[in-house]
Amino acid sequence: MIKTIDFNNINLIDTKSTSSKGNQLKWLYRNNWYKADHMGYEGLCEVIISKLLEKSNIDNFVAYSPIQIEFDGRKMNGCYSRNFKKKNESIVTLEHLSKQWLANSFAKELLEYEDTKDKIKHTVEFVEKVTKLQNVGQYLTIMLELDAFFLNEDRHTNNIAFILNDDTGEYRFCPYFDFGLSLLADTTMDFPLDEDIYKLIEKIHAKPFGRDFDEQLDAAQAMYGDYLRFEFANKDIENVFESVKEYYSSDIIKRAKDLIYNQKNKFQYCF
Ligand SMILES: Nc1ncnc2c1ncn2[C@@H]1O[C@H](COP(=O)(O)OP(=O)(O)O)[C@@H](O)[C@H]1O
Ligand SMILES: [Mg+2]
Repeated sequence: MIKTIDFNNINLIDTKSTSSKGNQLKWLYRNNWYKADHMGYEGLCEVIISKLLEKSNIDNFVAYSPIQIEFDGRKMNGCYSRNFKKKNESIVTLEHLSKQWLANSFAKELLEYEDTKDKIKHTVEFVEKVTKLQNVGQYLTIMLELDAFFLNEDRHTNNIAFILNDDTGEYRFCPYFDFGLSLLADTTMDFPLDEDIYKLIEKIHAKPFGRDFDEQLDAAQAMYGDYLRFEFANKDIENVFESVKEYYSSDIIKRAKDLIYNQKNKFQYCF
């Protein structure tokens, strides 16, 4: 059954647009974060990816569920997740850290390095220095593994974050979040539904260290190791898609499913 929530009388969260593809409408309601689809099937991606991550060796990720949101006389698909920030915590994005400590945008900071490995190494050293966290290389490598597997084109420096305890000044790792623009979700601008997925895959670009998913991934894994392992079978893929099939059209479901099968085939070493 479709789950619906009425936000006609609930204030929107005012977030500045940080993605090159604009901003999804957002609400924080009863300690859950809600996001409405904006370019295509972002909510489907969040839900499917977090459900597949339940069948992996990764445990610090945000779990998303599907929802239909009523707002401003419209009904939109979307997703919601439990607020992972505790009362005495702040979410500090890599972009924030960079502005605070380097007085520079991190995107600009990365332009100082030509080699992808150097960009990643610089990022790891910077984050370890200012947050005192350890194994940041592993944390970022896993993020790049997930992004390459799910074809996430939106890992800009506001989608990488750390959580600061305001009382102690200590940081912890943020659960992996925001896989909305994965799996060719942007059907409005770049990846129309009637086009061939294999041609479209060639058009996707990675972020933030390089434009090529495999190049970013190889560079990080060569320095910090490879981690991601899944244990889902084709039957599990069919099952996870059951949860979104009432929300999205059959051509969207088919495309996203085809992409997961394709990526499973490509990344056989993860299984
Ligand atoms: N489950 C959550 N718990 C805590 N904060 C969240 C959660 N979901 C989103 N946020 C906050 O909203 C910001 C934007 O969320 P994100 O999922 O990146 O949305 P968008 O797709 O619009 O970029 C995050 O940086 C974070 O501050
Ligand atoms: Mg985001």
